[in-house]
Amino acid sequence: TFRQLVFSGVQPTGNLHLGNYLGAIRKFVALQDSNDCIYCVVDLHSITAQLVHEDLASQTRSITAAFLAAGIDPKQHIVFNQARVPQHAELAWIFNCVARIGWMNRMTQFKDKAGKDRENASLGLLAYPSLMAADILVYRATHVPVGEDQKQHLELTRDIAQKFNNDFSARIAELGLGVEMQMGDETVNGFFPLTEPLIGGPATRVMSLRDGSKKMSKSDPSDLSRINLTDAAAAISKKIKKAKTDPEALPGEVEGLEGRPEADNLVGIYAGLADMTREAVLKEFGGQQFSVFKPALADLAVHKLAPIAGEMRRLMADPQYIDTVLRDGGERAGAIAEQTMHSVRDIIGL
Ligand code: ADP
Ligand code: NA
Repeated sequence: TFRQLVFSGVQPTGNLHLGNYLGAIRKFVALQDSNDCIYCVVDLHSITAQLVHEDLASQTRSITAAFLAAGIDPKQHIVFNQARVPQHAELAWIFNCVARIGWMNRMTQFKDKAGKDRENASLGLLAYPSLMAADILVYRATHVPVGEDQKQHLELTRDIAQKFNNDFSARIAELGLGVEMQMGDETVNGFFPLTEPLIGGPATRVMSLRDGSKKMSKSDPSDLSRINLTDAAAAISKKIKKAKTDPEALPGEVEGLEGRPEADNLVGIYAGLADMTREAVLKEFGGQQFSVFKPALADLAVHKLAPIAGEMRRLMADPQYIDTVLRDGGERAGAIAEQTMHSVRDIIGL
């Protein structure tokens, strides 16, 4: 079987928000105690929507600083930016020839990001999931912590791995490069693992504070819709105070949150930050008005986020240190990626 390995990435575009933290980064931190982890700032992904970014280098450092400030250990694990390891792009090209256009056309993120003028979206935006599959599989990673919005891309990653394993099964066996893995009741052999997403927990889909039907996002034009990791305490309190809610008190049971997306979202955020279940939060706050719950949530958010923001500021004042982390991480990642690519080139006959 494949050695258990965790991989995930975050784009260096815009401010990191509470959704990125609860849906992804906080899980990255928790997983490092019992796994080998590779965490990547995916700069090649960030140019799919807009090629020219004046501050790409500083955005990359800022995401790196957030990883470190949140508690990721770059010595024990690997932290780097994607562009330092060209094997990601090389494998992505091969996966572009494995995946089918129809698979890409079905991706909801592509439809959302391309908007109405789909013919005018970059080819890179369409092929984005192929690069994401390469990010993961160039390390033959077995587990990927992500938010709910990435579920479809992870399914596509498995489809690509499976098609590659099938298309080249004879060659993989001939070269002795197959690894046994369990698929349902069957034991099969393949070169790439069928990677599992890690999506659990109370805050896998944090919604906008202004509209409970939209996810909290870096690209939302309203700054009141999201809490940025670098927001000052006053801004965090103000945004939570202004968050959209309904006039009812909080219910005592989780079922009472049904049909109340804004209330559900705030309870989920509290649960995520406090490492509690929704049930436990409602046990504490059921029957209370938002005038009581919101200040408690604001205090909790400030208490959890302020130390991270402070540490990010400290790290951002030393860009050379951050670059050293990325360079060192890039070298270690590159060595693993090259091993995989060496085998892939052999399998394909390149
Ligand atoms: P964004 O979606 O904000 O542009 P990325 O695509 O770089 O950011 O996502 C980084 C990670 O954060 C991914 O694992 C993604 O699933 C997660 N994520 C993004 N938005 C949310 C959200 N609103 N709730 C939970 N997780 C999220
Ligand atoms: Na995303």
